[in-house]
Amino acid sequence: MTRADTPWRATILTLYPEMFPGPLGLSLSGDALARGDWTLEARNIREHGLGRHRSVDDTPAGGGAGMVLRCDVLAAAIDAAAVDAATGADDPRPRLLMSPRGRPLTQARVRDLAAGPGALIVCGRFEGVDERVIAGRGLEEVSIGDYVLSGGEIAALVVLDACVRLLPGVMGKMESGVEESFEGGLLEYPHYTRPRDWEGRAIPDVLSSGNHAAIARWRRAEAERITAERRPDLRDGSVAGQAGSRSITGPSRS
Ligand code: ADE
Repeated sequence: MTRADTPWRATILTLYPEMFPGPLGLSLSGDALARGDWTLEARNIREHGLGRHRSVDDTPAGGGAGMVLRCDVLAAAIDAAAVDAATGADDPRPRLLMSPRGRPLTQARVRDLAAGPGALIVCGRFEGVDERVIAGRGLEEVSIGDYVLSGGEIAALVVLDACVRLLPGVMGKMESGVEESFEGGLLEYPHYTRPRDWEGRAIPDVLSSGNHAAIARWRRAEAERITAERRPDLRDGSVAGQAGSRSITGPSRS
């Protein structure tokens, strides 16, 4: 359980609530959901739609292709969802809007979200949402990468997966997440297991040496090499919140 035995609480606002929990109902996150370490509520924005057809979108002001999610409809959906379950008081959870236009999600932001009370996540569809509701309801736009998905639902699943695995007890006896990619501003070093030789490729000798200091040095050097090759932006601190100085020695999970 999270702080004060209150589960981490996720609310999703979407036009496709059937997409949830989806893959999060399985494995680590599914077990944690079943244990009550976190809760998930997927609410249909269309319940706040207008008229006989429960319409949620309209044509863009100024013309152009596609449809825009109406601010009044989305605001009504947010207002109905953003209520503290126990007390009815104002909801303290951050409100995210999944959007390719958002700030890129980082492991640092994931850690902050996981340490908080939960998240209310709005999934956009269509061309976008009416800009006024973003400021009007304090939405933080978050992107999971520089590509365009057909909606925010899969992006919301990514955010939830990244957060839930960091909740206390969810990874169990496995590593706490301190020694994995992005922690300490480095990508992870390579992993090996049996067999020792496979198709002419051997496990690096140092890993069988029993010399823990040498193994730690090798892993550090490999992590630095891989990071320099693939993601020099992580090391030079240009990716916000990634730089740090944690040790990357010892076994880990990616
Ligand atoms: N919705 C569509 N594309 C997205 C992206 N890259 N990140 C977050 N939400 C999205």
